[in-house]
Amino acid sequence: MRIDILTLFPEICESPINYSILGRAQKAGLLKLVVTNIRDFSHDSHKKVDDYSYGGGPGMVLRPGPIFEAVESLPSGKVILMTPAGRVFNQTLAKELSGESHLIFVCGHYEGVDERIRKELVDLELSIGDYVLTGGELPALVVTEAVVRLIPGVLGNEESAVHDSFSDHVLDYPHYTRPQEFRGMLVPEVLLSGHHEKIRQWRRKEALLRTLERRPDLLAEVQLSEKEEKLA
Ligand SMILES: C[S@@+](CC[C@H](N)C(=O)[O-])C[C@H]1O[C@@H](n2cnc3c(N)ncnc32)[C@H](O)[C@@H]1O
Repeated sequence: MRIDILTLFPEICESPINYSILGRAQKAGLLKLVVTNIRDFSHDSHKKVDDYSYGGGPGMVLRPGPIFEAVESLPSGKVILMTPAGRVFNQTLAKELSGESHLIFVCGHYEGVDERIRKELVDLELSIGDYVLTGGELPALVVTEAVVRLIPGVLGNEESAVHDSFSDHVLDYPHYTRPQEFRGMLVPEVLLSGHHEKIRQWRRKEALLRTLERRPDLLAEVQLSEKEEKLA
């Protein structure tokens, strides 16, 4: 997969894209990640890319020209605008986007981007939640990481994405590691039993109970067995 991030602040992206999963995916040749400075497409002598908002009001708006030209300089791909007004990103969307071959993220700043960018250039508008950040860089990185870890071969152990929270609209089950007893707190007996079916059932039950307790809204999407229905 190829991912382009178009931003006014490439430095913000530097560290996150070079370490952990994103770094590994690039080294393994499963991901090409390119960060481009939108200012490189400004024809202004001061490399200015923003201007006042027509109609007045506080804050600057990113001009359409540099962003259109930055996108047009790239091979075609799905253009995603990061904006609090977009569809709220979730694991289902991450899964969908992991099947694309090329994503182009446009990061806004200041008051946001000129509306003509949204209308003519953008295929999808995404928000990472109901709060406002200063720029689209962190949101674009959040989406990038969630998508890339779902590309087959990126995670060391394929299983770990399958059982992650939200992968089947259920939160993850509790995990324990050594020591067996820590400050008087014990690891549940069943996990030490070596009985795979009992462990599977225990984990499923715990995941469902946790989801019921914390995120009952998610359970509407889950196909429960008769036995599981009784739990819920
Ligand atoms: C200060 S915000 C602009 C807020 C805009 N005036 C509004 O109220 O929708 C600047 C940029 O940060 C990014 N941004 C901020 N919060 C975001 C969120 N929750 N999800 C996605 N992008 C966000 C967007 O790219 C946005 O253009």
